[in-house]
Formats: sequence, C-alpha cells, structure tokens
Amino acid sequence: MMTLTTDQKRYLDEWMSFLKIPSVSADPNFNSEVAAAAAWVKDALDKVGCSHTEIIPTAGHPIVYGEHLIDPKLPTVLVYGHYDVQPPDPVDLWDSPPFEPVIKTTPLHPEGAVFARGACDDKGQMFMHIKAFEVMKKEGLLGCNIKFMIEGEEEVGSDHLEDFVKNNKTKLACDVILISDTGMISREQPSISTGLRGLSYMEVTVTGPNRDLHSGLYGGAVANPINVLCEMISKMHDDQKRITIPGFYDKVEELTHNERKAMAEAPFNLSEFKDSIGIKGICGEEGYTNEERRTIRPTLDVNGIWGGYTGEGAKTVIPSKAHAKISMRLVPNQDWNDISELFSNYFQSIAPQGVTVEVQTHHGGYAYVTPTNNLAYQAAHQAYLDTFGIAPIPSRGGGSIPIVPMFENELGVKSILMGFGLDSDAIHSPNEHYGLFNFFKGIETLPKFYKHYIELQNKDS
Ligand code: BES
Ligand code: MN
Ligand code: MN
Repeated sequence: MMTLTTDQKRYLDEWMSFLKIPSVSADPNFNSEVAAAAAWVKDALDKVGCSHTEIIPTAGHPIVYGEHLIDPKLPTVLVYGHYDVQPPDPVDLWDSPPFEPVIKTTPLHPEGAVFARGACDDKGQMFMHIKAFEVMKKEGLLGCNIKFMIEGEEEVGSDHLEDFVKNNKTKLACDVILISDTGMISREQPSISTGLRGLSYMEVTVTGPNRDLHSGLYGGAVANPINVLCEMISKMHDDQKRITIPGFYDKVEELTHNERKAMAEAPFNLSEFKDSIGIKGICGEEGYTNEERRTIRPTLDVNGIWGGYTGEGAKTVIPSKAHAKISMRLVPNQDWNDISELFSNYFQSIAPQGVTVEVQTHHGGYAYVTPTNNLAYQAAHQAYLDTFGIAPIPSRGGGSIPIVPMFENELGVKSILMGFGLDSDAIHSPNEHYGLFNFFKGIETLPKFYKHYIELQNKDS
C-alpha cells in the first residue's frame, strides 16, 4: 500500500462508501439504490462547495447537475460522468462481493487497487473530478466556471439524457466537455483517448415449430431454430473475418497511411496481450493489426445466445425458438440507424425455409473522434506531462460513450477524454478494480488540465 495523506485517506473512504451503493441501472430491482447513488453524488458536490446542485428526475434514472460559476467572462468546463454501474453478474466469479469494496495489491498495482463493481467504470473515475474540484477550490486554483452533469443511465444507453441535453442547451452551455470514462495505455505510457466507436445493439429471435418437439419423432425433418441461428450467425463473417452484411463497409472511414503508422508506434506487446486474457492466438479481420481491429475497425459480436434445454443432464428436444443478442461496434461515418436496418434486412434475407425471424433494435450510438489541434487537447497533453513526466500519446479507443457524439451535435462542443483506467481493470467483468495510483494520479492531473486550459486560452486571446 502507498502512504496516504489525511486528505487522500478521506478521499479513499468516501470513494469506497460510494461503491457500496449497488446502482445497477439495468435492473429495476435496484431502482432505489440507483436513486441513492444520485443523492450521494449531489451530497458529494454540496460538500466540496459546488454552489448550486440539483437532482433532475427523468423518465428513467435521475441526472445530477451541479454548477460553480465564478465569472461569465471566464471559460466553462462541463464535467460528464456516470454513477450507474453494470450488473455484477456472474457474482460467483468475484473473489470478494461486488458491492463490498476491498483494497488488494496486484502485479500491476503494487500500491493497491480497490475491487468493486464501478470502482473504475465510472464511479472511481467520475469521483476524481469531484475531488479535483475540492482541491482546486481549497487551494484557490479555480480559474474558470465548472458544470457537472452526472447521469445514471450510461450503461443502458443514456436513453433520457438526449432529450435533457436538447432541452437544456443554455444550462449546459460550455467551452469544453471533460470526461474520465476511458483508459490509458499504461502508467509508463499515458495516453489521451481520441476516439470512441459507435454501437448498434440488436436482438434476434428465430422461430421454427409452434412448440418444442421430441427430437426423435421430428428430428431430421424440421429446421431446428438453434441450428439455424448458428448457421445464420456464421454467415455474418466471411473467411477473412469481414462482415458480410451488404453495404456495411460503404461509409467506413479508412485511416491514412500516416495515421496507421502513428498507431503502430504506440507501445504494444502481443504476448502480454494474449497472456493478460489467457488466449493462445489472436483472431480478426485480415489486413489489420490487433490494435486496429479493436479500435478503428467495425465489428459484429454475439453477446449472448440462448434457447432449448440448458438445465442439468440431458433432454432430447427441438426447441421452438432460439435467441441471440448481437452488437456491432461502428466507426466514424457509419450511421447506427442505417446499420441496424442493413443488419435487419440481411438477417431476414438469409433465413432458410421453415423458420421465421424477428429482429429488434435495442440502442445505438455514433462513433467519435477528438482532434488534437485544439487548446483543450493541448491542455490535457501538458497536464499529463506535468504529473507523469511523460508526454501522453493520442490513442483511439474501442469502447462507446454514445452521449459524446451527441454533445457534439447538440451543443457543438468537443469532449476531451482524460481516462486513467487500464484495460486490465476488468470493467464490466468480475473483479473490476481501479488502482490507487490511477485514482490519485487522476486527482493530481485534472487540476493541471484546468490550469493549462486557462493559460492557453489567455495566450490565444
Ligand atoms: N466507460 C465505458 C466505455 C469505454 C470504456 C470506452 C473503456 C473506452 C474505453 C462505458 O461505460 C461503456 O461501457 N459503454 C458501453 C456502451 C453503452 C451504450 C452501454 C460500451 O462500450 O459497451
Ligand atoms: Mn463508463
Ligand atoms: Mn461501462
């Protein structure tokens, strides 16, 4: 464990108490806990002296809003984050209960890491901003206006935030949006996320006979919906691992030679990558590197598949229905509504005789790219340089935060993604954790962003 100052101990205690609230947005059984987490965030903002805070109800989970406006002539930074978390399942695979945070050391985190659902995504990372604000306020370093918008539906597609943003453009007016909800390469090589992928999330149902059948009496003569679904899914990639949906790649933005070259220069170790997730070989679209495949190329993956008999022992049955949840990660210029439609048409078109197919679109979002030639990016760059002593590199990420491209469309404002997580933090997985090093480094680095942002802005004008 690292030695902590009195303040740092308190930050850690506060963060751990936040992690005890099971704010699982996907499961209505947790609605009151989600509301409790919103109240906790509002209270945390009040305690650090944010001059106006409120909880704004939506048709879903509430939004926590706070603002501390010191001078209308100064720039305004809007901090976005989320207090909701993914379901902890499968709970059996956690070494300690997901909502009873504990500190343990790991080879990557010799100073210790907090293990709990949401430790990194995004309670830990979002809380760093509240503590950075506390530090700036106490030390009289606050040189601009700050707004906080912390939502409770990010993990379920931010369904109600879009309307809120559309209807509150004046309230949310700002010069830049600052977010810690992504990762960095490593502590030896900090990076700033310059991209997010879009998403299109589908659910399919294949129906065969009107009831489950005895597989001896009917087997061989009737299309089995699970067999059919597997065949249909396997048709969605060709042998170069390209997606076969007609039109899928039409609008895909290809990187320039120089962009690909720059990406290839980022530190990456293939055997460490394989070891870290326990695989012997990698697999993906031909013609692209491992890092390109997981960031700047679109994908199609089955997230879950079910149907038929999955209980103990054996039951001979041809099920009436088979289901799958299928998501596609998208890249700039792909429109998720168009892609959902292309998927739907194609999936229907490859259904063999003897089954019917239903396709449903869940949610989606657009991809996003941050330019590096602006003051806010430069300020972030300087901030990492100050606290890590190493220049951060721009790095396109593979995950999605659909609200970020929406901010750009609705508010006309770019987001700067200062994420301090590591891929090994196991976000969305059992044993999610967030390093104390990362947490405290974030609290130290964020105020530097504000400092450089104001300085660069003054120089510019
Ligand atoms: N914080 C993640 C997104 C992320 C993580 C981006 C790491 C880049 C690096 C966010 O909470 C998330 O999980 N987003 C979802 C999408 C959402 C619509 C459910 C995702 O990417 O699957
Ligand atoms: Mn997140
Ligand atoms: Mn997440």
